[in-house]
Amino acid sequence: MGEPVSLRVGVIGVGAMGAEHVRNLTQSVPAARVSEIFDADPAQGRSVAVAAGASVAPSAQSLIDSDEVDAVIICTPDFTHAELSHACIGAGKPTLCEKPLALTAEESSAVVEAEVASGRQLVQVGFMRRYDPGFIALRDAALGGEIGLPRIVHCVHRNARSHTSTSSANLITGSMIHELDMVRWLLDDEVAGITVRSPITNGFADPQLATIDMVSGTLVSVEVFVNAAYGYDVRCEVVGTAGTASLSAPQSISTRRAGADSVAISDHFVARFVDAYRLELGDWVGASLTGQVRSPSAWDGHVANVIAAAGVEALRSGARAEVRVPPRPVLYA
Ligand SMILES: NC(=O)c1ccc[n+]([C@@H]2O[C@H](COP(=O)([O-])OP(=O)(O)OC[C@H]3O[C@@H](n4cnc5c(N)ncnc54)[C@H](O)[C@@H]3O)[C@@H](O)[C@H]2O)c1
Repeated sequence: MGEPVSLRVGVIGVGAMGAEHVRNLTQSVPAARVSEIFDADPAQGRSVAVAAGASVAPSAQSLIDSDEVDAVIICTPDFTHAELSHACIGAGKPTLCEKPLALTAEESSAVVEAEVASGRQLVQVGFMRRYDPGFIALRDAALGGEIGLPRIVHCVHRNARSHTSTSSANLITGSMIHELDMVRWLLDDEVAGITVRSPITNGFADPQLATIDMVSGTLVSVEVFVNAAYGYDVRCEVVGTAGTASLSAPQSISTRRAGADSVAISDHFVARFVDAYRLELGDWVGASLTGQVRSPSAWDGHVANVIAAAGVEALRSGARAEVRVPPRPVLYA
C-alpha cells in the first residue's frame, strides 16, 4: 500500500477565521495537513504554526511559491484578497479565498479574467453557507416544490459586534455579501435590482435593510445588523405558494430554570457554522487533490461583488439600483 495522498496547505492570515481553518484542517480533514503559515503579525503566525506543526513562511509570496505548499487558503483582511488571488493563480495553485473575492467589482472582474486566461478554475470563494446542512435543506425545500413556488425570502444576519465590517459600504461588501451570494444559490436565480436603506442616516449605517428583486420576480428582504449586541443570529425563511420553510437553530440544548425556558445564543460565527466550515474544507481539499476546484467559484465571487456595488450605490442614492451581471465566461458554464 502506498502513502495516503495528503494535500499540503499554506494559510495566509491566521486571525479568527484563518486559525479556525487551520484547526479544522488539522483535526477534521485527514486528507490535508497545514505545511506553512504566514501572518503579517509574526507572533500570531508563530503561535498558530506551532500548534499545527507547520512552518512559518517569510512572506505571502514565498508561501504561495513554496515547493512545500500544494494549495493556499487566503484569510487576510478583505482588501488584500484580490492581489493574493492573482498571485495564487499565477502560481497555478488551488486556492480557497475567504469572502469577499475583492472589495470592488472591478477588482473581482480582473481576478476572473486572470483565471479565464489561465484556462483552469483554481479559486473557490469562502461562501460557506452553501455547505451548511440547514441552508442545503432550505434550498431543497425551495427548489423541490414542497412549499410550492418561492415568492418571498426573508433573511436576517446579525453579529453581536464586528471588527471587520466597520463602514456603511463594508457592511455590504463584507457582511451582506453572504446573503448576496446565498440567494442566487438558494433560488437558482439571478439578482435584477436592489434597494438598501438604514435608519442611521449620519455615520456608520448599521443596521441596513435591503430589498432585492430576482429576475424571476421573487422578492428578498435582507436585514444586516453587525452590532446587534445580543449574539450571532442568522435566519432565513422562504415563503412559497403552498407553505413556508425556515432555518431552525442548529442542535443545542434548552435550559429550564428560575421560571424561564432558555436557549443560549452564541456571539461567535464559528459556533453557528462549524459544520459548514468543516464540510467546505473537506470538499475543497478533495477538489484540490483532483484538480476539480469548482464552486462557489471566482465567478460567483465576482457576481456577488457586482450586486454589492449596486447595493452600495443604492444605499447612497436611496433609489433602486439595477444589477447588470456580465455574460458568464465559458470556463464557468
Ligand atoms: N466565511 C466566513 O464566515 C468568515 C467569517 C469571518 C471572517 N471571514 C473573512 O476572513 C478574513 C479574515 O477575517 P478575520 O475575522 O479572521 O480577521 P482577523 O483580523 O481576525 O485576522 C486577519 C489576520 O490577517 C493578518 N494580516 C493582515 N494583513 C495581512 C497581510 N497582508 N498578509 C498576511 N497576514 C495579514 C492579521 O495579522 C490577522 O492575524 C476576512 O476577509 C473576513 O471577511 C469570513
